[in-house]
Amino acid sequence: MQTPEERYIQAHSTAQGEALEWIEKQTNIRTNYPRMLSGAVQGRFLTMMAKISGARNILEIGTFTGYSAACLAMGLTSPDGHVDTIEVNDELEDLIREGWSKAGVSDKITLRIGNAMNILKELPGPFDLVFIDANKREYSEYYELIIDKIPSGGLIIADDVLWDGKPWQEPQPQDKQTQGIVAFNDKVVADTQVEVVLLTERHGLSLIRKK
Ligand SMILES: C[S@@+](CC[C@H](N)C(=O)[O-])C[C@H]1O[C@@H](n2cnc3c(N)ncnc32)[C@H](O)[C@@H]1O
Repeated sequence: MQTPEERYIQAHSTAQGEALEWIEKQTNIRTNYPRMLSGAVQGRFLTMMAKISGARNILEIGTFTGYSAACLAMGLTSPDGHVDTIEVNDELEDLIREGWSKAGVSDKITLRIGNAMNILKELPGPFDLVFIDANKREYSEYYELIIDKIPSGGLIIADDVLWDGKPWQEPQPQDKQTQGIVAFNDKVVADTQVEVVLLTERHGLSLIRKK
């Protein structure tokens, strides 16, 4: 259920279009945690960032039902631009491929099924834009595995960095997801290789640029 503010924001952002609407609807019907999907406004933001940056090689960590990967692919401006996306849950593959086909982006995306912690070690890069949106406990490890594969001027967009306001509340020893986000946010802001701005869009998005 959207708040009035969210409805207003979505109504005054470019519409997502029928194919993305289809992925969102099917995600609601066919998956247990549809809230994980980026949503219309964040999706438009990802498309916009891909367009503005002119990124040719995009990497996504955490495909889920393929919504955000489709948004990133829609933002590719170069004819040889490509998106690699990693998802550990192979049961999602049929839905992912159906949605990409409807969106007309199948030939622009490579789906890599497996654990990102292994796959990232094998992908050589370079990556002009990386969208981190998988296991919150592992964000710092993903960062370590990709940062040297990002050229100067390259971008990382990290989702869920505000994690329902938990990062600035009393730490709970058993809450490893919040600890993962806190460690990641602290690591990035202290890393002199990058500049970062933490945006309040939805669950928090960090926009990180390699100097
Ligand atoms: C928040 S969802 C991604 C949402 C998607 N990016 C979107 O905006 O529509 C996180 C996804 O990451 C996947 N995931 C979690 N840990 C992973 C790992 N270590 N390697 C690959 N995928 C992982 C989960 O199975 C889940 O589908």
